Amino acid sequence: MTGSMVSVVGAGHVGSAVANALVLLRACDRVVLFDRDSARAEGEAWDIADAIPLLSEMEILPTADYADLSGSEAVVVTVGATSGPGQSRLELLGSNAGITAAVIGELDRFCPDAVVILVSNPVDVLTRVAIETSTRPAHLLMGAGTVLDGARLRQRLGKLLGVEKEDVHVYVIGEHGDSSFPVWSSATVGAIRLENFRLPESTSLSQLEDELTATTRRRGLDILDRKGFTSYGVAGAVARIVRAVVRDEKRIFMVSVLAAEEYGIGDVVLGLPCVIGRAGVERRLLLTLSEDEERSLQRSAEVLDTAYRSLAAAGSSTE
Ligand SMILES: NC(=O)c1ccc[n+]([C@@H]2O[C@H](COP(=O)([O-])OP(=O)(O)OC[C@H]3O[C@@H](n4cnc5c(N)ncnc54)[C@H](O)[C@@H]3O)[C@@H](O)[C@H]2O)c1
Repeated sequence: MTGSMVSVVGAGHVGSAVANALVLLRACDRVVLFDRDSARAEGEAWDIADAIPLLSEMEILPTADYADLSGSEAVVVTVGATSGPGQSRLELLGSNAGITAAVIGELDRFCPDAVVILVSNPVDVLTRVAIETSTRPAHLLMGAGTVLDGARLRQRLGKLLGVEKEDVHVYVIGEHGDSSFPVWSSATVGAIRLENFRLPESTSLSQLEDELTATTRRRGLDILDRKGFTSYGVAGAVARIVRAVVRDEKRIFMVSVLAAEEYGIGDVVLGLPCVIGRAGVERRLLLTLSEDEERSLQRSAEVLDTAYRSLAAAGSSTE
């Protein structure tokens, strides 16, 4: 078989939406959709396949056999329980850590060279579990991080300022969760610092930053309250990461990675800017942060480190 192949593990709400986004984005030549429930994988794959004749020359194949993932350039992992209303992403940790480690074991066996992108929540802690348990080098493992949070923020900020979101540059970093935060100190609109950009009438910079920080953090829960899960937004974000890998785009995304030593926050995994290409995480970039932002990053790191350590203390299997 020739052409690029990407696999998605888990054909639930998120996994099937990711597979569909990969097809819509023509991110690769073939998508393999895995679920332990083969009927579910078939139902979702066949439904997505029905649109392919109208769109492109891609292929989508359902499977319940990890061996069919051999030859994948990238694998997206979406299996696991999802948070219900009022439940934080961190509460999912116990159940999803064991599942993640088991899936990573299968991927190490059948596609040891693939770039693996974790999506299951809490994504930062599960990416750390994956890095700790996998035999593949750390640059081939990343979590979806705060890519989605950043897209949400840029969309909203662009709208408020009356500027195309592509020209709004502001990173959201840290935990994909309650302690994430935008790096306002380096925000620019085009090449103009946000603090020098004309804001809407009667809006102060601090008001705007506070409101957008809160709405960005709340967005996932707002969707969860209304439809019970989230899928399309994260799927679009993940499909863009995958495309950057398959096409070796060298794009900068805030993915979950082991923090570089220079941040001084220890061996914690959280959303930070990285150059993404064929080799996965090709470079971890260093951000200059304000003192407040340094404290926020420290706080986010503490939340995630505590969660990771609670897992070890509870003796949850990560084998
Ligand atoms: N990172 C993000 O931005 C983001 C966004 C949305 C959802 N998520 C996470 O993605 C994950 C999946 O969400 P969903 O809505 O698709 O859930 P879902 O319940 O619709 O699908 C989960 C899939 O996992 C499979 N699964 C469950 N337990 C398994 C096990 N022990 N072994 C193998 N497969 C198993 C199921 O068969 C199912 O297909 C959740 O952890 C959710 O929190 C992450």
